[in-house]
Parts: sequence; structure tokens; C-alpha cells
Amino acid sequence: MVRHFLKDDDISSAEQAEIIRRALELKKSPYSARPYAGPKTVALIFDKTSTRTRVSFAVGVADLGGVPLIIDSQTSQMGGKESVADTARVLDRQVAAIVWRTYAHSGLEEMAANSNVPVINSLSDDYHPCQLLADLLTIHEHKGKLAGLKVAYVGDAANNMANSYLIACALAGMNVAMASPAQFSPDPTVVERAKSIAAATGGSISLSQQPAEAVANADVVVADTWISMGQEAEKAKRIQEFAGFTVDAALMSQANADAIFMHCLPAYRGYEVSADVLDGPQSVIWDEAENRLHAQKALMAWLAEQG
Ligand code: CP
Ligand code: NVA
Repeated sequence: MVRHFLKDDDISSAEQAEIIRRALELKKSPYSARPYAGPKTVALIFDKTSTRTRVSFAVGVADLGGVPLIIDSQTSQMGGKESVADTARVLDRQVAAIVWRTYAHSGLEEMAANSNVPVINSLSDDYHPCQLLADLLTIHEHKGKLAGLKVAYVGDAANNMANSYLIACALAGMNVAMASPAQFSPDPTVVERAKSIAAATGGSISLSQQPAEAVANADVVVADTWISMGQEAEKAKRIQEFAGFTVDAALMSQANADAIFMHCLPAYRGYEVSADVLDGPQSVIWDEAENRLHAQKALMAWLAEQG
């Protein structure tokens, strides 16, 4: 059976650790895996805008010996004109993998159900699992381990990054503390899933509406935009609703003294994070952005070996 990577728990805890181990290896030796030699082609489909994801997947596919084919869905037949299922049936006869950034997560499930090659979620409204592989790699590099660390996520706990943080960190045996306004609390079904994973890995999940409570004793502090792609019309309202949830120097000082700050980017200085924190000494955002490349190469190499 072909393996897909649509959400963080499509892989086990051991598989996640193996992918991160391989990412560390590929970072040291970038051309040591060549699963796409031939060259084989990988389709990279974008329904939403992107800088990091587009570049890191294109460079990653090339590093793995393949050819990246970037498809802007606006200029393809996908969407209104041709179904996702028919698109999958056309693509999977010609490409080695399909990487798709889209809106509704159900589209990815439909693509995967109709594809004989791995389908990778490069961000949906519900999850951003490739980002989390890069984030875990970054935390591992800076802290030397994952299990047992405390990660504080402050801001929109109802978005794709929050869901992926809950599930991926639970798989890694980490302690996740989230602080958000009540109306932006995480989806209870995702919280339950994360808690049941954490019960098996030794991790934990806690939710609050107090940034200071989440950040206390944290090893890692994370922020994401308050306005995700597709929510632009709610910008003014959201900026008001998230008042008090900016990660600034005062909040950061309540975390452990050696805490690192992370953000998947793009960042909006002065909203979810202050400029001095984003650009300050505790911030590891450029390592995090680079690690998209290494983590996704490890994921693609691993998927190519499955099934
Ligand atoms: N973090 C991230 O996915 O960035 P892009 O939107 O630029 O791809
Ligand atoms: N939550 C953000 C992440 C961007 C990489 C969004 O979906 O726009």
C-alpha cells in the first residue's frame, strides 16, 4: 500500500523519529539519497501562495535526483473544471509523488484515495505537517532532544499550525501548552487525538487563555499569524480579538532563559510577535525555514521506500 502524508499522525512516533534522524543526515550530506534519480518528476500543486514551501520542495526534489513540476492550480484544469479524483488519475501515471497546498483538507483525502503515488500535504486549512517535521528538526538541533520538552504555542489555536503542533509534538513525547482567546481554542476532536497519542508517548497537552501560563518554564515558544490564508476578510476583527496574545519580550522573559522562539513564517511584526523577539537572539526562524528543505527531503526519501 502506498503511504501518504496528509496529517501529522499518518506516521507513527517511531517513523517520525526516523524521518528526523534522516533529515539530520541529509543536512550533513545533501546528495546522499537519490530516490528520484532517472530523473523522476514530482508534481507540486499550489492553490495558495507560498515562498518557503515552493522553494524547499523544488530544491529538495532536485537534490533527490528528480525534476519538480510546479503547477499553479489557477492555470490548470483542476478545481471547477476537473475533479480531484480525475486529476490524481492523470498525475499518478507520470509523477513519483504529488505535493499539494490547498484549502479544504478533504481535497487531499480525495487525491490520496485516487493516487497510486504518495500524496503529501504541503498545507491545508487543517494541517501543516511538513512544517512540523522541520520544526521538530530545528528543536532537536537546538535542544538535543524532543521528548520531555515543553512547547508553548500562543495565538490562533484553531488553525492548521495549532493542529499540527498538537499532534506532531504529542507523537514526539513533548508537553504542549497552548494559549488562545476562547473562541480560537483548538478543535476538541484534535485535542482528544493528541491527548491519546501523548498518553502513549509520555507527552501532555494543556490549554488555557493565559499566554503567561502557557509560556512558564517553556523550552520553545511558538507563534503563527492571526490571519491564515483564506481568512483575509476577517483581518480587522481578528486583530482586535487577538489583543494580548502578542509574543513580546515581556512574555518571552517568562519562558526558560534558554528558550528558543519559532515561527513558520511569513510573520507580521507587531501582531503575533514583536520585532525584537522575531529578530532577537532567541529566535531560530531562519534555521527553521532552511530545515523545511532537509525535513521534506527525508520525508520524500522515506515515502519512496514504503509500499
Ligand atoms: N511556512 C510556510 O509554509 O511558508 P510559505 O507559505 O512561504 O510556503
Ligand atoms: N497558518 C498559516 C500558516 C502559513 C504558512 C496559514 O495557513 O496561512
